Amino acid sequence: MNNKCDIGVIGLAVMGQNLVLNINDCGFSAAVYNRTVSKVNKFLEDAAANRSTIIGAHSLEEFCNLLKRPRKVLLMIKAGSAVDEYIEKLLPFLEDGDCIIDGGNSFFKDTARRTNYLKEKGILFSGTGISGGEEGARRGPSILPGGNPQAWPLLKDIFQSICAKTPAGEPCCDWVGSDGAGHYVKMIHNGIEYGDMQLICEAYSLLKEALGMGYPQIAETFHNWNKTELDSFLIEITDKILRFKDDDGQIFLEKILDTAGQKGTGIWTSQSSFELGVPVTLITEAVYARGVSSRLDERIKASSILKGADAIPAYDKISMVEDIRKALLASKIISYAQGFMLMEAAAKEYSWNLDFGNIALLWREGCIIRSVFLDNIKDAFRKDADLQNLLFDDYFSRILADCQESWRRVVCAAVSSGIAAPAFCSALSFYDAYRCPRSSANLLQAQRDYFGAHTYERIDRPRGEFFHTDWAG
Ligand code: 6PG
Repeated sequence: MNNKCDIGVIGLAVMGQNLVLNINDCGFSAAVYNRTVSKVNKFLEDAAANRSTIIGAHSLEEFCNLLKRPRKVLLMIKAGSAVDEYIEKLLPFLEDGDCIIDGGNSFFKDTARRTNYLKEKGILFSGTGISGGEEGARRGPSILPGGNPQAWPLLKDIFQSICAKTPAGEPCCDWVGSDGAGHYVKMIHNGIEYGDMQLICEAYSLLKEALGMGYPQIAETFHNWNKTELDSFLIEITDKILRFKDDDGQIFLEKILDTAGQKGTGIWTSQSSFELGVPVTLITEAVYARGVSSRLDERIKASSILKGADAIPAYDKISMVEDIRKALLASKIISYAQGFMLMEAAAKEYSWNLDFGNIALLWREGCIIRSVFLDNIKDAFRKDADLQNLLFDDYFSRILADCQESWRRVVCAAVSSGIAAPAFCSALSFYDAYRCPRSSANLLQAQRDYFGAHTYERIDRPRGEFFHTDWAG
């Protein structure tokens, strides 16, 4: 090939390989490089065989020389120090106006730092969240680019070609915002992913433990739910997982150890919620639930020491299944509302101009949390760009009104059956606390003032005036 390549990709793990093939299918030529260079040859011989517009490089210098200017270098490598190392190694071979894109799950503050650092060196940096796993990378992921805004015109054509499209044909890729905004929104996506997964797991354990349903029945239930407002990728794969059998005919799920792993993006979401003072209770419960699950030995010991409910009450199966569906839907609304509350606070704190309707659209297809539900979120923010909270939108407040009695019954059932349902419970507690015009925090303020003279405000005086009482006389 005489012409230089449209883009270069560093990192040929599965995500990297699949993105290169997707880029190439969309008509763009790509140079590829991998630290273990034998992987480059292997990729060219196997997955990329007979593709004359995918060119392998065996050094970073050769790689950079293969690229059209301004160069576009997409890093598909492990988040963390490896990104900084590659930036340093690339710099000698890059020129003013070239662009580095970090497509990993990097921490948004690192992305902001890298954007500024590279700006000083005349290089454009884009921290780009890419969601959808291996299949998404191959067929069309959701792409969330942020960083130096001057990078966007260089990336738009390629990214909007390779990304997923909504049923209406809109690309699930658009500029998210400056410095760390793209990676921040990807982090929130992952946090919401943790919440959705936890809710599905709680519904599963109630169907299994409280209602005594078998795998085929539970799978059928998720299958049916996927035809309702819950229609989503995660419900769809849950149905499939529950039907999946091992070679010996047994349900495969039975053989998987019940200790959840995590790479950290859910924890970052919770940390950000603490930093910005936003109650993201459901995602945080989902993070803690993974932590509890990982204490397997302790849980086994505790199961023989700590007493549970005497008996599981008898429930009417048909009505309880519908109650659980409604509890899942209502809790999911709370989780997304909290996620958007956090993004709103982050937009203020970091001076990002986040378009929430657009973010819902970017998540509509391609990513792990893709769902029909995101259309309703997009509509809510399109209808009212200043919507203070998703829960104030008519569509969502009506669903919550319709679901709340079921939701309460499910939380009661979980509690009285001794089945942990932290996400359902915390979502309902948030709902009740959020809609409470006069809370018990007056007592809390009095306690703080009593023991520490921390002062309080009064209901009969303007906000901002603080008082102290000598409570003990
Ligand atoms: C995606 C996913 C992905 C994430 C995994 C693992 O959007 O494609 O969010 O980025 O790495 O879901 O996350 P945990 O290991 O933390 O569960």
